[in-house]
Amino acid sequence: MAIPESFIQELLNRVDIIDVIDASVPLRKAGANYSACCPFHNEKTPSFTVSPTKQFYHCFGCGAHGTALGFLIEYQGVGFVDAVHELAKRVGMIVPQEVRSEQAVAAQKAAVGMIEALQLATDYYRGELKKSEKAIAYLKGRGLSGEIAARFQIGYAPPGWQNLTEVLPDYQSETLTLAGLAISNDAGRRYDRFRDRIMFPIHDQKGQVIGFGGRVLGGEGDDAGPKYLNSPETPLFQKGNELYGLYMARRAIREAGRVVVVEGYMDVVALAQYGIAYAVAALGTATTPVHITKLMRQTDDIIFCFDGDAAGRKAAWRAAMNSLPALTDGLRLGFLFLPSEHDPDSYVREFGTDAFERALAGALPLSQYLVEKLGEDNDLQSQESRVRFLNEAEPILKQIQAPRLGLLLRKRVAELVGISLDELENSLGLRQTAARRPSGPQRVNRRPLTLERHLIHMLLIKPQLAAGLEMKLVSGKTPECDVLRRLLELAAASPNLSSQALLQALQGEIAEALRTELSSELMIVDDTLDLEHEFAGALLQLQSTWEKQVSTAAELLLLAQEKGLQALTPEQRVLLQGSRWGHGKRKE
Ligand code: GTP
Ligand code: MN
Repeated sequence: MAIPESFIQELLNRVDIIDVIDASVPLRKAGANYSACCPFHNEKTPSFTVSPTKQFYHCFGCGAHGTALGFLIEYQGVGFVDAVHELAKRVGMIVPQEVRSEQAVAAQKAAVGMIEALQLATDYYRGELKKSEKAIAYLKGRGLSGEIAARFQIGYAPPGWQNLTEVLPDYQSETLTLAGLAISNDAGRRYDRFRDRIMFPIHDQKGQVIGFGGRVLGGEGDDAGPKYLNSPETPLFQKGNELYGLYMARRAIREAGRVVVVEGYMDVVALAQYGIAYAVAALGTATTPVHITKLMRQTDDIIFCFDGDAAGRKAAWRAAMNSLPALTDGLRLGFLFLPSEHDPDSYVREFGTDAFERALAGALPLSQYLVEKLGEDNDLQSQESRVRFLNEAEPILKQIQAPRLGLLLRKRVAELVGISLDELENSLGLRQTAARRPSGPQRVNRRPLTLERHLIHMLLIKPQLAAGLEMKLVSGKTPECDVLRRLLELAAASPNLSSQALLQALQGEIAEALRTELSSELMIVDDTLDLEHEFAGALLQLQSTWEKQVSTAAELLLLAQEKGLQALTPEQRVLLQGSRWGHGKRKE
């Protein structure tokens, strides 16, 4: 399946990241680099920086970084393969025929078959809606116009067991089972999954139908089975990954600069009917981190507006919890709680578009929601209740990586229980979190650069330099030494990787915060330096440190041989054991 890495490298060599980004985010020259306000978070002063020489971008505000390819993926929300094709088209390169396993070819074929079947079914259901007075009356009764029904491609599956044979003659095909359109019972009889239901097609990001939600025409509790029947999980359709309405809402989300997440199909459709086209719904599942990440690609303002009942409140809390790891300082999450008898559909119908948008503007910010929720049923009057508050706050605070938001929340929690921020951070062991903050440029400038760090920077920019550096010289146990050793291995294996490819390769192997730091530092490393020269200088320093260690260890070894190990201080013993001879001796 994979497109060869060499092709990707060649492609990245041919395109100019400045052109690619400038086409969507106008760039301004700023010194050796270009800059703009970051498209991935909300900001007023530009901290989004693009380097023409290093061919990558980095945002000092939110830490986003990557190559031209990464930019297309993040900015347009397209997949890797699509982004490769788009870039290749720009520079007139042809993506090599992907070499794929038989299995992958079969899976691809099956997927195409499923997509076709689902599209044929969609067209069929839409046609049936036009013919069914009953279904039309139902939708009209719920206030939907024909235009909105058409926009959402709403249809109707008539009663009857094998209607789909009309449009899918190969009715026995396994594809229909896979796609979730037909079911075989134990006796081997085959029948349509959806019967006598209003059909809501669910689209993927490309606009292809990947599944359906089908609603009974009556109210709840009729004999017609569950109110909603969804497609089963299929290779194309995983509920936890998809959002109903996202494909239709994309443009409106960009234009409005925000997205509303609601619970139901009908909420999405009704809001669109009332001119609020930027709503999406999770498909009867809790909002997952995948959902949040997907939405963050489209906008940095996400408002959850669930039903006003107890279930809706529970769903809101789960959404908040699931969003914690994905939070960034630029992201605004809001929570709108409707009166308990309403869902977004009924609310907008009763009070209108303006009232709904006003309510959205007054949505509770996440931080406030968290604090209020933690304070629910807790008067904080006794030591015990304050301890309970801290216990409940702890797992929440620990999941938040966004530096400023995290800091403000910790401060607020500390105030509420009447301790200092220091005391709170100590008591929760949160010091680490504070230290892991991604750094802005100021901090990068202030920190004295260690020798290892300097070497890392140079290797990232020019991996060929690794050839001159012996692994044995890097024996330290710091995270920087780990990175350096790993870089030496990577560079030895493929000396032509770009900085970004190297950083990418380190993903998951080193702390994410360190990776972000390195990426931002790289942006301000002066690459007009004579790198060979610099590197040689750094090597000399490394060499002399190593020689000092070796000679100390040699002296210690002599001493130990003459007078026995007891003659060494504990520190000296550690030093000796840490050296090559300490180890070597034991092995021999
Ligand atoms: P209406 O009653 O038509 O207004 O539907 P709604 O879209 O407002 O749905 P509701 O608030 O009752 O439920 C929210 C979402 O949960 C629905 O859109 C479905 O995705 C899901 N859901 C609700 N009922 C069922 C059910 O009986 N079975 C399944 N699988 N999902 C359901
Ligand atoms: Mn409803």
